Amino acid sequence: MKLRSTSLGNVHAFLFAALRTVSCAALLALYGLSLASAQTAKAPAPGKTPAKTENQLSSPAVEAKVRALLAKMTLEEKIGQLVQYSAGAATGPTSGRTDDKDMIRKGQIGSLFNVTGARATNELQHIAVDESRLRIPLIFGLDVIHGFRTTFPLNLGLAATWDPEIVRKASRIAALEASAAGVRWTFSPMVDIARDARWGRISEGSGEDPFLGSAMADAYVRGYQGEKLEAPDSVVACAKHYVGYGAAEGGRDYNSTEISEHSLREYYLPPFHAAEKAGAGTFMSAFNALNGIPASANPFTIKQILKKEWGFEGFVVSDWTSVSEVMAHGIALDGATAARKALLAGVDMDMQSNLYHQNLLKLVQSGKVPQAAIDDAVRRILRVKFAMGLFAHPYTEENLEASAMLRPESRAAAKAAATKSIVLLRNEAVSGAPLLPLSANVSSLALIGPLADDASNMIGSWGALGRGQDAVTLRLALTQKLGESRVHYAKGGEILTASEGDISAAVSAAQNSDTAILALGEDAPSMTGEAAARAQLGLPGRQQELLEKVAATGKPLVLVLFTGRPLTLPWAFEHVPAVLAAWYPGVEAGNALTDLLFGEAAPSGHLPLSWPRSVGQEPLYYNQLNTGRPASDPDHPAEKGEAKYVSRYIDEKNTPQFPFGFGLTYTSFRYGATSASAKEIPVSALRQALQEKGRKVVTVSSEITNTGSRAGETMAQLYVRLDGTSIAMPVRMLKGFQPVMLAPSETRKLTFDVDAEKFAFWGAENRSGVEPAHVTLWIAPSSAEGQSTTLDITER
Ligand code: BGC
Repeated sequence: MKLRSTSLGNVHAFLFAALRTVSCAALLALYGLSLASAQTAKAPAPGKTPAKTENQLSSPAVEAKVRALLAKMTLEEKIGQLVQYSAGAATGPTSGRTDDKDMIRKGQIGSLFNVTGARATNELQHIAVDESRLRIPLIFGLDVIHGFRTTFPLNLGLAATWDPEIVRKASRIAALEASAAGVRWTFSPMVDIARDARWGRISEGSGEDPFLGSAMADAYVRGYQGEKLEAPDSVVACAKHYVGYGAAEGGRDYNSTEISEHSLREYYLPPFHAAEKAGAGTFMSAFNALNGIPASANPFTIKQILKKEWGFEGFVVSDWTSVSEVMAHGIALDGATAARKALLAGVDMDMQSNLYHQNLLKLVQSGKVPQAAIDDAVRRILRVKFAMGLFAHPYTEENLEASAMLRPESRAAAKAAATKSIVLLRNEAVSGAPLLPLSANVSSLALIGPLADDASNMIGSWGALGRGQDAVTLRLALTQKLGESRVHYAKGGEILTASEGDISAAVSAAQNSDTAILALGEDAPSMTGEAAARAQLGLPGRQQELLEKVAATGKPLVLVLFTGRPLTLPWAFEHVPAVLAAWYPGVEAGNALTDLLFGEAAPSGHLPLSWPRSVGQEPLYYNQLNTGRPASDPDHPAEKGEAKYVSRYIDEKNTPQFPFGFGLTYTSFRYGATSASAKEIPVSALRQALQEKGRKVVTVSSEITNTGSRAGETMAQLYVRLDGTSIAMPVRMLKGFQPVMLAPSETRKLTFDVDAEKFAFWGAENRSGVEPAHVTLWIAPSSAEGQSTTLDITER
């Protein structure tokens, strides 16, 4: 199958160039920046007054409709709105019952998910609207995580773009396609901060940093929900998994979490707050217990923080059977108690556990659940249904569905996203010059590895309606570029198994070629995503052996890693000259990679997380605390260092293999000294500035030079450290980022206009604010580099 003719390739190249320009400009516009004077990107600080978008859920008109409808509803009908099932799944109405359509007719179901297609959703919707007493439409949900039919890079890859505008566009396209198929609600974005690569779901989020994570959360929500939530092509977002799910102990999925309120407010909550401020209509409560209280029965996080403090007006859906799992967690002995605790904590809709359906009526009749709690939950669900225009247009145009999918402009956006998502980790010199980019005149290329021609793996986990047949593999794209005769393909075995013959065929292919490309990594469906925790983070199966044997041929080697997490590959990072982290790039995988490999595009991805050297370093994150005994040289394990009684390993460096924010390209940059426009800021002035949201209090700048011979983009990152505060703060915190494109030898002064919120934090007195502090600031190409300057927030 030829998916890319030469002329389509040209169109792609044109659109790609256009998108890059638009995206850069739009990103700047989003943050109110110009290239000459960049500000810090606006990520929300905790505990601030929500500044909502035009997507406000509640309006006088909507509230009047909700009130009128609520007044007509029986208790049974109200409870029905709180019930959600996966159509056709083994639990819920289809388990032991065949009457789900009858339940809809009786008003006993408020939402279904995993039903797609205009015809299928319309058929069920007709039952709800034409045959139920109050004609309340169903809301159809689905996990549309990184694309619906047009698959974009897996979310960790989207985060590696450091480009919220790319993410907004990807989500907009996903919403256009999903809504055309009758799906107006997505269980996305997943905004869980994750610091442990063992956790399989690290692939679904935006990495370890609350500032980057907040920028991405905002972009996803705006993309899905569009300009107006009531538009038929808008999809309601669902920020998940609320909250702390990413901190699962040992990286084991569903495991418990212990997070102090300070850490919750500083690291885990900000991306949720950003989603809420962007107008997210729904939240999903998580599976984990948080400090002993299941997240799906946690009144402090849901009722207190989300609904009261932030003023969230939408509804909270549980995760899949997480209401019944409250029993396994150990705080309820029976289903009725689990249902009561979840509802009273603020979980409005029960996904799949059937416990609201079975128990709420009796619980209200016996006085154990107040009628007002039911009314509040129903009000929230109806509010979303009205605000999204579901009552006005409950059906989907069946004849428009097919033409909404995989449009050329959607593929072009997927290619732009994929190209920006791939991170160049290593590019050592071979015969005097960096191995990448390769010359298009290469006479022969060995393409080796189980992921070189595996189209369905390019889709990644949570593929929605993405299909392998739509994806361009590396083999297909390389063959189209170089012709069959120049590409010597050898699979080298499967992801988990390989025979001697497989490996020796791969070695021969390398021997008979000028250069070898190895496409190795994890199997997306089984090794990344939910319930895919790994205790070993090396290459699965015999792939490490394959790599070493191919490397032994002495041929220049490029390693392309398809993975949903960082992999610990110390040998590769010492011996393989060029390594790319490709994640799972989506439908345009091969085309994006080929452009990067041959220099038609330059890598611009940056790590949204710290890449560990060893599993034993996990959880590993850059924004750690200093400890009382920091290692003076964290880049050396103890036996090489000077002192024993400091915080380090005796058998491993403290530092990551690659730091958060890191990413190479085909040129190099020099970051000059960082300077700040003020040496002192009185704390009173900062407090005043906090009231005037966004007012700049200091300007931080640095000169950046392109020291190479090609034009290229660097991602300038602003980091802040606070010392002398009431509670220990991290060694660095990301507070701004800005892409800078520079011509060869060009120098540009880059400026971040920093507002007071960037210095605010959740202090020892359990509130957010600013305090006197000694401040260190860096403008740097990663979290481990850069020259610093200081200023003082003084007591006055
Ligand atoms: C996952 C959620 C997902 C839900 C519905 C659960 O198992 O944890 O992320 O949205 O299923 O598919």
